[in-house]
Amino acid sequence: MEASTRSASELDDRVEELKDQEIFEPPSDFVEKAHYTDESIYEEADKDPVAFWEKAADELHWFKKWDQVLDDSNKPFYRWFTGGTTNMSYNCLDRHVEAGNGDRPAIVWRGEEGEREEWTYSDLLRDVQRLSNALNDKGVEKGDVVGIFLPMIPEVVISMLACTRIGAVHNLVFGGFSPGQVMERMEVSDAKLLITADGARRKGDTASVKAEVDKVIGDAPGLETVIVVGRADAGSDMQEGRDFWYHELLEAADDECPAAELDSEDPMFVLYSSGSTGKPKGIMHTTGGYMTGVAWTTRAVFDVRPEEDVFWCSADVGWITGHSYIAYGPLLNGLTSVMFEGAPGYPSTDIWWQICEEEGVTLFYTAPTAIRAQVKAGSELVANHDLSKLRLLGTVGEPINPKTWVWYYVVVGGERCPIVDTWWQTETGHIMIAPLPAIVSTKPGSATRPLPGIRASIRENVHEDDDADQEKTVEEGHGLLTVDHPWPGMLRGLQGDEEQYRDKYWSTFGPDTYEVGDAARRDEDGYIWIVGRTDDVINVSGHRLSTAEIEGAIVSYESVAEAAVVPRPDDDKGQTVVAFVTLEGDEPEGGDDMEKGVREHVAQKIGKLARPEQIVWARDLPKTRSGKIMRRLLKNLAEGKEDYGDTSTLADPSVMEELDEQMKEGSSS
Ligand code: WTA
Repeated sequence: MEASTRSASELDDRVEELKDQEIFEPPSDFVEKAHYTDESIYEEADKDPVAFWEKAADELHWFKKWDQVLDDSNKPFYRWFTGGTTNMSYNCLDRHVEAGNGDRPAIVWRGEEGEREEWTYSDLLRDVQRLSNALNDKGVEKGDVVGIFLPMIPEVVISMLACTRIGAVHNLVFGGFSPGQVMERMEVSDAKLLITADGARRKGDTASVKAEVDKVIGDAPGLETVIVVGRADAGSDMQEGRDFWYHELLEAADDECPAAELDSEDPMFVLYSSGSTGKPKGIMHTTGGYMTGVAWTTRAVFDVRPEEDVFWCSADVGWITGHSYIAYGPLLNGLTSVMFEGAPGYPSTDIWWQICEEEGVTLFYTAPTAIRAQVKAGSELVANHDLSKLRLLGTVGEPINPKTWVWYYVVVGGERCPIVDTWWQTETGHIMIAPLPAIVSTKPGSATRPLPGIRASIRENVHEDDDADQEKTVEEGHGLLTVDHPWPGMLRGLQGDEEQYRDKYWSTFGPDTYEVGDAARRDEDGYIWIVGRTDDVINVSGHRLSTAEIEGAIVSYESVAEAAVVPRPDDDKGQTVVAFVTLEGDEPEGGDDMEKGVREHVAQKIGKLARPEQIVWARDLPKTRSGKIMRRLLKNLAEGKEDYGDTSTLADPSVMEELDEQMKEGSSS
């Protein structure tokens, strides 16, 4: 193991030195070899976004070319590449095997205990065809929904691809959800078949999955067949006629299953996304447009070179990030995609950096919350590893605060790697706002500007300002983020609910303008800064403040590791700010001076209004297993609600009990 050439303290000093730098030019070595280096791509795409995406679609295989690129005759029900026929699994697998790249690793799987499996493109094609045949044998037809509830194992990607091969619609449920939630999603989506596992491994333990599924399977009466992947030695009671072992089905199945010629607008998958309130919504994606958007954005944003790159997206495949950038984007581009079954800190805190080193990861894509955890763990753990193969870093999912950005840039990226901060949503299917890394200078905390072929703007906040003009875009300042031109990977609807689709996304500004649901700011250079969900805005004395901005300010204070800010109703001010704050190191309590310091710091960074009314020192914050902070729980806690909500999806449910006790003791205020 060859460590970084700089010591941890040298790295930390350098972070300190750069932490206020506002703009970073694309590193020159990177630019020299990059695919896209010419600014004119933006202008050209903007002149004619439809022609731009048509060119991108042309790079893929179509059995029959489209008649029309964009059909907007029934807004907001847009259709892309109508009349064209294609197949996702053909484009991800057959195309590369036919081109002579069958022996290239498609997936490198790493298990918790250091296990390693390499699956080539030919390996995947073999198993995908067999599973497709097995699904056909079980009566799955084009348009049927297949549920997938699997841990992070290669079989999850094989299952997705097998569905796309025969035109079945996959419905993945994140492995961290409870079986009850799985069954709810199966029932609502009318799934016919479920692919699940005997068990899942997590931090050295094996949790049974199938046995838990069995307890609630009656809730989804339409489920006729269950296929069980046996990888965890957890066993399974097999119900005759309903349950089948995955490996037995594959052994018995025919080798060949030609890819079905699917219509570009045939549904490809549904993914339930829990909004901030209410029931999860089934977000629908179709075939040709999604494929085009994901393929191009992977190529351009990550500047991929399939022959040499090793791409690691650390998300869970059960979320849209995993769909688009563990499975489809990398495979469409013929890349090698790393898949890690374990939790971020197990078996050792530096397991990520160990895997990056061992696998020679060149492109690394993760979430800010995960980076903050690594900041907390310390630069030393990174410095001990040789990460010199890395050439680009990405982030997704939430705004990244500048201090964390600079740490990522210096300590992980060695100042050689551009950082692509990518803004997008389950609904958008693929990355929408992000720098093309060799063209756009980056500003820590900003996703920069819309990609070529994407039009976005900021509009006056019509929800909060009665005089706001719907048509008017904000050239500089705050407002609501909108997308102003259809894009290929856009959601095609909410499963079974046309009205809600119209209402939620296309009612405020009409059927030409997609309302994102995020507040954002455009700066003097036209850069877009995502402020946060519109439902995460705190209104103190009539002034709109963003939880994300306050959190950013708190985290930029010395020895603060992480913060979550929620509103609390207040008779005088409307709302006040409550902050849950985690400190670096082992000392969970901050004390009076620290509290004063944080409040003053926030006042300085944003204004006195934003100062937290109460600071609660937290050992950890309530996070889902994919790392999202569950602010809703904290909000309920801050409001003093007895029942602060369901903690079953938390990585560590005990965190909420601790915080509850601390709030009750009124330990600080
Ligand atoms: C937020 C995840 C700031 C945003 C791909 C969006 C971001 C929501 C960023 C979608 C980013 C995503 N900077 N905020 N780079 N990326 N978001 O559907 O609020 O899980 O609306 O999709 O995450 O979350 P979703």
